[in-house]
Amino acid sequence: MKTHMTAKNIVLGVCGGIAAYKSVELLRLLKKQGASVRVIMTQNARAFVGPLTFEALSGQAVCTGLFEKGEDASIRHIDWAQASDAVVIAPATANIIGKLAGGIADDALSTFILAVISPVIICPSMNIHMYESKAVQRNLEILRADGYSILNPESGELACGTTGPGRLPEPEVIMDRLLYCLAPKDLIGKQVIVTAGPTQEPIDPVRFISNPSSGKMGYAIARAAAQRGGTVTLITGPTNLPDPTGVTMMRVRTAREMAKAVFDQIDESHIIIKTAAVSDFRPHKEASQKIKKEEDEMTLLLKKNPDILKEVGRRKKNDHILVGFAAETEDLGKNAGKKLAEKNLEIIVGNLVDHPQYGFGSDFNKVTFFYKDGTKEPLAPMEKDAVAHILLDRIVERYLEASNTL
Ligand code: C5P
Repeated sequence: MKTHMTAKNIVLGVCGGIAAYKSVELLRLLKKQGASVRVIMTQNARAFVGPLTFEALSGQAVCTGLFEKGEDASIRHIDWAQASDAVVIAPATANIIGKLAGGIADDALSTFILAVISPVIICPSMNIHMYESKAVQRNLEILRADGYSILNPESGELACGTTGPGRLPEPEVIMDRLLYCLAPKDLIGKQVIVTAGPTQEPIDPVRFISNPSSGKMGYAIARAAAQRGGTVTLITGPTNLPDPTGVTMMRVRTAREMAKAVFDQIDESHIIIKTAAVSDFRPHKEASQKIKKEEDEMTLLLKKNPDILKEVGRRKKNDHILVGFAAETEDLGKNAGKKLAEKNLEIIVGNLVDHPQYGFGSDFNKVTFFYKDGTKEPLAPMEKDAVAHILLDRIVERYLEASNTL
């Protein structure tokens, strides 16, 4: 799986805070995405997590001091600083924030940061009163003005027993910010609409028709498009997923609600990607009370829902880029090709939903892109996040860049 993290040199700075245990998980996520990670720990961080843990997980020596035995460590810092594609300090304590704001370089981490020219993400994490203190807030303002990327702490119960802002965001959230720093910004100025998840078509107040779509593919696309600078709206049916960072959310339930939300925004949008598994039919009438099980059999009369994508395809203007998804149980090429033409799409992403490891509910997908010009591109099985970025790569290469050069 190739992502914007693959083969990137990331330096993870760990300071002495209780949240240091979360940096272990962050390191694992980074390695999973193919990054090469080097860890620099402050002296105090060693009181919370041992360097050996980071060394084993990163596969590289951990730097804990300016003058480590047997090596010219001060030079090594400069090498690391030159080679890094991004740096993340998590958790960042009041101490390192203060030192960086003042330009002080008195240990390995602060010395290293002064020599870095790549993006630096600082993730403050500390007691609420420390975080809200005038000194820390003033220093954070200085760091923002100096071009550091500050990931605000989350609110919640803190290790010291207080409740409020100060908690280190989950590793996945820190990952999102890193990916944002590393992804190409090729969707700046583009309005992107993504639909995701299933729809629910009510039968009565407690029952509905739906399908097992988890929404993961659409959420991955929305997240990836936001990382690349797009202005993204995610119109989603009911899911259990957290909101992707930097995306405007619109929650809907039925196909008709989804249709209205999409149609309301077509004119302002440039790219519409419909991953939602929209219910093709809805009950003819929704019963106002719970239906009783009096009969042995019952007939449910269904009515066709609007085909949202087809209607968008009908209304589309020249510069609209439309992408559909086709989940098929057989004859993928033929069915996907037919939908591409019928719905007037630029790309249709086809996947056979006959494999338990991929598709509905899974983090992985095995898809083939079918293009308007009749060509196709099968992808190896990979994580939905990676599929999302490759799809956006193709949209940019084939349609955005092509229209810019006309
Ligand atoms: O025709 P089919 O439902 O298989 O086409 C799949 C594509 O069409 C998906 O992109 C899906 O989001 C979209 N679709 C839609 N409205 C429907 C049914 C499907 O937009 N009522």
